[in-house]
Amino acid sequence: MGKIISLLNHKGGVGKTTSAINIGAGLAELGMRVLLIDLDPQANLTLSLGIPRQRYTIYEAVRGESELVPYNVKPNVDVITSTLDLSGAEMELINEAGREFILRELFEPVLEQYDFIIIDCPPSLGLLTLNALTSSDYVYIPLQTEFLALQGLAKIKQVIDKVRFRLNKRLVIGGVIATMYDKRKVLNRDVVETIKKYFGEKVFKTLIRDNVALAEAPAQRQDIFSYNKKSKGAKDYLSLSKEILERTGMTQKVATTTA
Ligand SMILES: Nc1ncnc2c1ncn2[C@@H]1O[C@H](COP(=O)(O)OP(=O)(O)O)[C@@H](O)[C@H]1O
Ligand SMILES: [Mg+2]
Repeated sequence: MGKIISLLNHKGGVGKTTSAINIGAGLAELGMRVLLIDLDPQANLTLSLGIPRQRYTIYEAVRGESELVPYNVKPNVDVITSTLDLSGAEMELINEAGREFILRELFEPVLEQYDFIIIDCPPSLGLLTLNALTSSDYVYIPLQTEFLALQGLAKIKQVIDKVRFRLNKRLVIGGVIATMYDKRKVLNRDVVETIKKYFGEKVFKTLIRDNVALAEAPAQRQDIFSYNKKSKGAKDYLSLSKEILERTGMTQKVATTTA
């Protein structure tokens, strides 16, 4: 049964999409079968992997017009793509019965085919995000190690607590990912300490360093492992993926050559 993970932070630019792509690719390096869900109408994940416009995207699926139709990007990595049309979905579904459970239903038939389903959430806490949380086992929160990293977190926690109480008892905050970390910056080190004080053990030991290859890879329409396996970005996301296996009680299926 696939474990379902939502990458959530309603702030933009904190590393949700970068983490979704590269955790997905990292887990695939470890032999896991991964399905990435692009749930953001801006379709950054879809575009960053160079996937052309598909006939059936997440938009048609949430409208009940199709099943999930995965696009295979590389061995062990499939993607459910997004499109700008998805921006209308929240309004269109507002009167739909069971509207918070649409994704959960869609995932059911594919759960056996994957070890992990990773959802790249939009930068908002609307109905799409609610659907992500209702269907997930874990929420991972990426935080940029900059000033104001923790600002707005009370709101995220509130939404997670509500979903757990009303819609999905399984849901837990499974991890906090510190992103764009530069150890030369005192501020970054201070913010990591603050994040650890606030979230304790939830914070992954792997800090995702500020690494230009991670920003370049999407321009080449590649994940970090295809773009530059030797980069710090690849090392960090592989190490994070290993931690994720440990935390979720899964076992690596293949040996890796990267650090
Ligand atoms: N660790 C990193 N080092 C350098 N650039 C990064 C890193 N993580 C993300 N970026 C860049 O920062 C920007 C925002 O990241 P993104 O993953 O799109 O955030 P979000 O999905 O939360 O909006 C993108 O241009 C991305 O390439
Ligand atoms: Mg994004």
